Amino acid sequence: MGEMPTTYNALQRVTGDDPGAKAAVAARLDPCRSFAVALKGARLAMNDPHRPRYHFSPDNWMNDPIPFYWQGASHIFFQHNPAGAYHADMHWGHAISHDLVRWEQLPIALAPTSSGPDQEGVWTGCVVEDGGTFYAFYTGIPHPRPPLDQVQCVAVSDDLTTWRKPAANPVIGAPPPGFGECFRDPCVWRQEGTWHMMIGSELPERQGGAALHYTSPDLHDWRYEGVLSTSTTAETGHDYECPDLFPLGDRFVLLTSRGRTHWQTGPFDGQHFTREHLGSVDGPTYYAAKTLLDDQNRRILFGWLREARPVEVQKDAGWSGVLSLPRVLSLLPDGTLGQVPAPELSALRGAHRRVEPFQLAASEGQAEATAALPGVSGATLELALRIRPEAGAVAVRVRTTPDGAECAEIRFDPQTGQLGEVALHLAPGEPLDLRVFVDHSVVEAFANGRACFTVRTYPTRDDARGVTVATTGRCTVEDAKVWEVGL
Ligand code: FRU
Repeated sequence: MGEMPTTYNALQRVTGDDPGAKAAVAARLDPCRSFAVALKGARLAMNDPHRPRYHFSPDNWMNDPIPFYWQGASHIFFQHNPAGAYHADMHWGHAISHDLVRWEQLPIALAPTSSGPDQEGVWTGCVVEDGGTFYAFYTGIPHPRPPLDQVQCVAVSDDLTTWRKPAANPVIGAPPPGFGECFRDPCVWRQEGTWHMMIGSELPERQGGAALHYTSPDLHDWRYEGVLSTSTTAETGHDYECPDLFPLGDRFVLLTSRGRTHWQTGPFDGQHFTREHLGSVDGPTYYAAKTLLDDQNRRILFGWLREARPVEVQKDAGWSGVLSLPRVLSLLPDGTLGQVPAPELSALRGAHRRVEPFQLAASEGQAEATAALPGVSGATLELALRIRPEAGAVAVRVRTTPDGAECAEIRFDPQTGQLGEVALHLAPGEPLDLRVFVDHSVVEAFANGRACFTVRTYPTRDDARGVTVATTGRCTVEDAKVWEVGL
């Protein structure tokens, strides 16, 4: 098969396919590139008090993580505009971690090829391995929009850093008839000796999401099989962006994104996925989440944490988009999705403080009672709180100023069963168990092993460093542990 060169991959241009030469040049280029990036970043982004410290965020733009695990390393490919902190000219950026905690940015993996089927963008997809060779499947944008035509392409690699694009691209040039505009974000997996691909799509007239199913004997020739799953717009939004499908426990999990990332659990018979349960992975800040499978057989989820600042402010800041913390998924006994922070994150813990248990009650006519956690202050913290709500709602506020004028809030209302903008129903007698990770503008909260809610916060004041608990009724803070965290 003939090869088309990528326009961007410096390593491949310089060294062709000689792995020894590649390694030597990579060693020379990497420090240079990091230095150049660092210089630019130093000007724009390093002094930004909103830039997270222990979450990965590249300079310029990122969205949509594409996780892949290989031989002790977690790789995150991601949608990346290397030229600015705005969504345009999509490339695949690349970062790697050996401990799920420290991330190192690698050279760009994939770039649009001029006059190629992806000349207007290398969009989201997935990576799989077959016989020691890696295949990146992605959506190519073949011409300027509108209309938004989308084709499915492949790139091939021996080392996950240097990719070549076979001349046979695109591997799927058009959607089957009868669907809406969305035709993107291929997800590929092998099941019983057959390769399967699912492409995110939508029902006509924006009536809901659809996953289109293809199979292949060899990762090259793909045959359309039919629709693997559909949902209504009211259930999961009008299309399925960034779908992911994988076995978990004795069921499968289907992840899809529109507005937020949704999970569905149920059986998959090789052709059709049947939903038994449906829920939100997180709120609207957390998007386009996908998983990897590591060597301990753990399903680890990563999402894109969107910014909440105006576009012009993001551009001026020189960075936009954050990789979420890794979450370990499980199938809970009731068939719903469990999510907990990866245990590796405790390596970030530094100075520790434990606050004595206390009760909090709003008096007659008082809208709420609040209590600051004494001696707790910081923009990079982990909190582990056990709160028993006894009447009314409770809230944990972080990055709060002493006067409470600025803060980010994680609120739980037992009456409505809402943690922020996601559902959480406590069983009788079950306390609220919260883990909250604060990292400058990022606040990721995990509750009771099954509900997550992430918010962004950009306080204007330097003294927005406190933590308070509030209630509209009565609650007991039974346990409150706090760590300073950092790399
Ligand atoms: C989701 C998404 C994908 C698409 C990519 C483009 O955030 O819209 O559907 O492939 O972003 O960057």
